[in-house]
Amino acid sequence: MEKSVGILIASTICLFFLLGITQASKESQKPHFFVEGIVYCDPCRSLFKTNLSVPLEAAGVRVRCTDPKTHKVTFDMPSVTNSTGFYSVRVEGDHKNAICSVLLMESPMENCNETPCGKLDYETFNVTLTNNKNNDNNNGNIRRVNDFYFFAKEASPKCKQEFKNMQDIPKLKHMIRCGPFTYM
Ligand SMILES: *[C@@H]1O[C@H](CO)[C@@H](O)[C@H](O)[C@H]1NC(C)=O
Ligand SMILES: *[C@@H]1O[C@H](CO)[C@@H](O)[C@H](O)[C@H]1NC(C)=O
Ligand SMILES: *[C@@H]1O[C@H](CO)[C@@H](O)[C@H](O)[C@H]1NC(C)=O
Repeated sequence: MEKSVGILIASTICLFFLLGITQASKESQKPHFFVEGIVYCDPCRSLFKTNLSVPLEAAGVRVRCTDPKTHKVTFDMPSVTNSTGFYSVRVEGDHKNAICSVLLMESPMENCNETPCGKLDYETFNVTLTNNKNNDNNNGNIRRVNDFYFFAKEASPKCKQEFKNMQDIPKLKHMIRCGPFTYM
């Protein structure tokens, strides 16, 4: 009697275990993506990385998808950066027919919370969240987007020298509209 109860319990545990495995593999087969990037404080107000850029912890970002026809939000997920300025947003599902973007939301630093032209528009990146085979990126389901920068209220006096030391200053034509930036 005791033996058969034991067997029953053992086989029940085994059954749950197997269910768990199939559940887990189904879970990993569902399309999902990781949108990743880094948020910096830019003490040079330059919108590109220098040796003076500092990764920002607890900066807010969000991944949002909208239907281009109805303008309805079809996915929306906030996230924050960790101590290395890094964020990784897990996106469930395939968003083939949506416009998806990564938005910079919030700075944790009062003296480093400005954005170019006072707008967040320059701190938005579109991202393709589909495994559509026409999509020619080979990064699997990881979407690494460009760095985000919050500007310090005033450019650090060290920046001039930093720009002089740099071999290549990235050209940011679209920024000229709302300059001047310190490197110009
Ligand atoms: C920060 O997040 C990234 C991406 O999720 C991860 O690779 C890294 O190990 C994290 N660093 C710390 C210090 O938690
Ligand atoms: C993102 O895509 C939409 C639709 O194609 C476009 O209107 C918008 O300008 C794009 N945004 C960026 C930051 O490239
Ligand atoms: C930035 O730091 C690296 C590593 O310390 C150094 O090799 C490089 O020359 C620095 N760049 C500038 C522009 O000072």
